Amino acid sequence: MSDELRQAVGKVLPSVRNDLEALIRIPSVSADPGASTEVRQSADLTAVLLKNAGATGVEIIDDVEGSQPAVVGHFPAPEGTPTVLLYAHHDVQPPGDTKQWASPPFDPTERDGRLYARGSSDDKAGIAVHLAALRAFDGAPPVGVTVFVEGEEEIGSPKLGDLLAKHRDKLVADVIVLADSDNIEIGTPSITTSLRGIAACIVEVRTLEHGVHSGAYGGAAPDALTALCRLLATLHDDDGEVAVQGLVTGPTPAFDYPEDRFRDEAAMLDGVALLGTGTIAERTWTKPTASVLAIDATPVADASNTLIPAARAKVSVRLAPGDDAVRARRALANHLTEHAPWGVHVNITDSDVGDPYAIDPSGPAFDAARTAYREAYDHEVVEIGTGGTIPFVAQFADAFPDAAILVVSAGADPDSRAHGTDESLHLAEFERACVAEAFLLAELARRPDARKNA
Ligand code: BES
Ligand code: MN
Ligand code: MN
Repeated sequence: MSDELRQAVGKVLPSVRNDLEALIRIPSVSADPGASTEVRQSADLTAVLLKNAGATGVEIIDDVEGSQPAVVGHFPAPEGTPTVLLYAHHDVQPPGDTKQWASPPFDPTERDGRLYARGSSDDKAGIAVHLAALRAFDGAPPVGVTVFVEGEEEIGSPKLGDLLAKHRDKLVADVIVLADSDNIEIGTPSITTSLRGIAACIVEVRTLEHGVHSGAYGGAAPDALTALCRLLATLHDDDGEVAVQGLVTGPTPAFDYPEDRFRDEAAMLDGVALLGTGTIAERTWTKPTASVLAIDATPVADASNTLIPAARAKVSVRLAPGDDAVRARRALANHLTEHAPWGVHVNITDSDVGDPYAIDPSGPAFDAARTAYREAYDHEVVEIGTGGTIPFVAQFADAFPDAAILVVSAGADPDSRAHGTDESLHLAEFERACVAEAFLLAELARRPDARKNA
């Protein structure tokens, strides 16, 4: 591909970096009801940046009941070329305990070639990559482009179905590029072809009408936290395999993911056993898993010698491609109801769902992507799975079954620590991702056979 285009990306990079930092400074935490102003501000800034990049029909979509603002903008397709939808999300996960961060989570800070901040990799880098590609073409990309930036991905895209139904016409595309996954390793361009789904419940256990003296009544009356712990312990068998009946297991991926590397990337402590059975790729990409994400009970600092009357936990299962998230959530709820010990009262509230998805990476758009990403990174492209979920993928595939779905990295790598403290973006990898996306648009312009819908 062209050195010129690579240089054009290099030229726009400082401005893109600037805009990425401005986006990061807005704490657009979709899970925090108190941050709705900030989520709105990040949508507003995204809209301004798109307009400045030359997009027409830029619009903040906020007319879907109960949804978080999304942003859309268009670059019309030159005659005969495909239309590409560039996807990212502008909302972020909560920062957690800000004191644990080496630098403030919403103050982007560069150290050793990485930019540290919440959202630096997940997924404000996604917005920035799209801006870089569009600016490299001076706002006139060689294919049609629609940019869609979601505002509620990190809370499971609860209103995305309604949004897609209402605004389908604005999102029609032949190819969609989601810059919201990881590269398997720095320098290795990776196309994600398998994403897990998710289903979560909040389970509340009640044993007593009110707290009572743990000495006077303990031994005969069960406390709710012990009961909850026993219930949660039924989620796995002794091997650490998920014991919830009826969850789908997919085929074993061919990918060789060495255990040592996984242990290192997952930051596992010495001597801690792996959960489940099978290869690492299997365990993390094509098998279900269950995790207890949170527990509400008396904090240790407030402990008294009292039997706790009620306790609750958030339980999440990840689902292999082929599973159905709503059905799996019912299976989880049934498991929790059926395994309650000692006749305790169990109350279950449904929480987030997102369907899994497997992508067949064949056809002109994938060929174009392999060419573009190989060239940009000067490294062979690999196909990987991920244990994470992007609810948009399955829903978009449902709305546009013929579109090619390309899930790539905006520079995120196994050490980006998305959702954790000290999240960061590897800046050289980010630059490669920008070049690759620009190359992809150029390559797709040569592929009229990539046209399917638009
Ligand atoms: N970008 C991630 C998805 C992801 C994670 C892709 C790891 C590749 C590797 C996305 O922002 C995310 O975190 N999704 C949520 C969805 C949930 C709220 C329904 C997730 O997976 O927890
Ligand atoms: Mn993301
Ligand atoms: Mn995320």
